[in-house]
Amino acid sequence: MTPEPELDRLLADVLRQVKAEDPRLAEIVRSAVTHLHAFVREVRPTEEEWLRGIDFLVRTGQACTPTRNEFILLSDMLGLTSAVDEVNHAGPPEATPSSVEGPFHSPAPARPLGASIAEGPERDRAEPMVVHGRVTDCAGTPIAGATVDVWQADDAGHYDTQDVAQPDGNLRALLTTDDEGRYWFRSVLPSSYPVPTDGPVGGLLTALGRHPMRPAHIHLRVEAAGHRPVTTHVFVAGDPYLDSDAAFAVKDALVVAPERRDDPGEAARWAVDGPFLDFAFDIRLVAQPAQAELAAVTLGGVAR
Ligand code: BEZ
Ligand code: FE
Repeated sequence: MTPEPELDRLLADVLRQVKAEDPRLAEIVRSAVTHLHAFVREVRPTEEEWLRGIDFLVRTGQACTPTRNEFILLSDMLGLTSAVDEVNHAGPPEATPSSVEGPFHSPAPARPLGASIAEGPERDRAEPMVVHGRVTDCAGTPIAGATVDVWQADDAGHYDTQDVAQPDGNLRALLTTDDEGRYWFRSVLPSSYPVPTDGPVGGLLTALGRHPMRPAHIHLRVEAAGHRPVTTHVFVAGDPYLDSDAAFAVKDALVVAPERRDDPGEAARWAVDGPFLDFAFDIRLVAQPAQAELAAVTLGGVAR
């Protein structure tokens, strides 16, 4: 960056004043201040533009309520939540990649394998879908007793928590894999939906010429003893918003094509009444080193 002596001195003064005892806090604040000063030097905002930016942040804070966090939405819409997810959860290429949790997780009812999770009005109008797969480690060894927490929107793009017509816990389930690591449940094909657009972040999307849509997906959080848990999505192939997800959460390995099944024998196998969509998604977890091995690695020892 071109030297600008007055701005260089100003930044150095601010950095010198960071005296936090917590070294990580000091590192974070020093880096944020350095990047923000670089931004001002590059963009050279007018005072009016700077105050508009501050006003945007004030309005973002004012839009927050106990059930709505407009700052998280801002982070999501700028790809920052996905970036933080990636730096914290990157795994080997064989593992199922993680993806952001989003704002719609809530405790799910425990349901038996094969249960129908569609208990609202969508049951009578949406396309039936059977979701199934196997939870394994990265070598393909099945993991019995893994918990698979799933949540999804209906065919109109609404979660139960947004829609009084849906019973509590609708389109959610906490499942446990069988002895062969399998999980399966009956549901309906979800649809794409917009993130909330009635606040300042919605205004920003409009000003940037962006749409607010998320491609159709199902969320999963999978946990198993001795393995790193994964929070992820599985997306419906063919969705028009896969290449422009407003939350930047799509990864190729998470896109699955539903296959239409018309055979009554197949329907009977999954306890479905008629033709349905077959949606298969396997999940590969990363084995976590046993605690003792972790301690040995941390202390610089050799794990045996
Ligand atoms: C969602 O699943 O709706 C969502 C996920 C990430 C950011 C915003 C919304
Ligand atoms: Fe979602």
